[in-house]
Amino acid sequence: MADTLTIIDNRTGQKYEVPITDGAIRSTDLRQIKVGGDDAGLVTYDPAFMNTAACRSRITYIDGDKGILEYRGYPIEQLAENSTYLETAYLILFGELPTQAQLTEWTRQITFHTMLHENIKKLMEGFQYDAHPMGVFLSTVGAFSTFYPDAKKIFDEQSRQKQVLRLVAKVPSIAAYAYRHSIGRPYVYPDNDLSFTGNFLNMLFKMTELKYQPSPVLERALDILFILHADHEQNCSTSAMRGIGSSHVDPYSAMAGAAAALYGPLHGGANEAVLRMLTEIGSLQNVPAFIKRVKAGEGRLMGFGHRVYKSYDPRAKIIKKTADEVFEVTGKNPLLDIALELERIALQDDYFVTRKLYPNVDFYSGLIYQAMGFPVTMFPVLFAIPRTSGWIAQWEEMLLDPDQKIARPRQLYIGAAKRDYAPLEQRG
Ligand code: CMC
Repeated sequence: MADTLTIIDNRTGQKYEVPITDGAIRSTDLRQIKVGGDDAGLVTYDPAFMNTAACRSRITYIDGDKGILEYRGYPIEQLAENSTYLETAYLILFGELPTQAQLTEWTRQITFHTMLHENIKKLMEGFQYDAHPMGVFLSTVGAFSTFYPDAKKIFDEQSRQKQVLRLVAKVPSIAAYAYRHSIGRPYVYPDNDLSFTGNFLNMLFKMTELKYQPSPVLERALDILFILHADHEQNCSTSAMRGIGSSHVDPYSAMAGAAAALYGPLHGGANEAVLRMLTEIGSLQNVPAFIKRVKAGEGRLMGFGHRVYKSYDPRAKIIKKTADEVFEVTGKNPLLDIALELERIALQDDYFVTRKLYPNVDFYSGLIYQAMGFPVTMFPVLFAIPRTSGWIAQWEEMLLDPDQKIARPRQLYIGAAKRDYAPLEQRG
């Protein structure tokens, strides 16, 4: 039997055969079904894209019910255990794990692109001392498009490759500059002897010492966190990256939009919101009252729930383990006990169980970042650094996909019917 869906229009009795490919029907196949007269045909109504695939992708696989996450087929648990962020970024961008020679060259190239143009530094100096680092980050990424006009050649493979290097390499420098600016400390230039995450820690925390020595535990923990955040298929910010990129604008402008989408508290801003929530709860005895308020609809339990995961987010499991290792070095974050108690109650409470609300990646990541010395406002930026590799991989896949065109959803118009303009004195 052919893989098709038979649709019978009860109004006319007419029968339509619509092919099913890769578990989907094409919405445009529904256009042959006319709604009335010679209109453009039947459309599907799907606010928030709850059940619409907007692309075919080879990058990230998620099974939300089983709690599975894979990059290019490799389970996230294996990558977190064995890989580094730079190696994983290579995998996400180029489709295969690198050979030793490829990894050496990739690392060399990234290391050589970490410096920021001095004028970028000046631009960043213009922000208020208390500017939110994520606002600074997304503005600076957008400003990159004016520094690298060659990025407009989006169908030139060599040019694209150059922007990939620049973006992956320079986002930690932007983040570190934004942080140092916010605390009034001088900028630290990249140290090419250090690893990707070791150098990031150097640019953030170096004081007067001649050579910064990152803690190997914190360096590795950051690498794991970066691996976990590198891609997550068609989430809000990635859809923004693809949507904006579909107009064929340069990748920096598209990525500024993606970073703006990530900034929101329902997406990458959730880790910041979790910490604010835990601080507000303040002590263990306030946890039951807080849960009661959430159940009454007076706010959300931040760091819980996910559009796709309807079981424990596999990233949250790995982060919980990493947290223990970090706390051995930094001392335990006092908010951890509140988080554990919230999780304990939520996992057995009917409200959360029936809605399949489990901890997501952001529930514990903020506790680690705080213990490492980051202010909460830096948390979304720490999400954006590794997600950069995912955003550009998805952007490039979109550009080279012959199925793709400029993103332009349909709407169901429910406003006023046509009427004539009334002069001001006749209104009222
Ligand atoms: N606390 C309390 N109730 C919740 C929560 C929560 N965190 N999340 C969902 N619900 C309830 C919601 O009120 C609704 O209940 P009802 O059916 O009675 O109206 C039901 O669960 C379904 O929620 P939804 O809003 O339809 O689910 P969604 O798929 O649209 O939203 C979400 C997903 C992640 C935006 C949402 O779960 C949420 O707001 N979580 C808190 C913010 C957060 O942690 N975001 C980080 C997501 S993971 C990192 C990333 O990839 O960005």
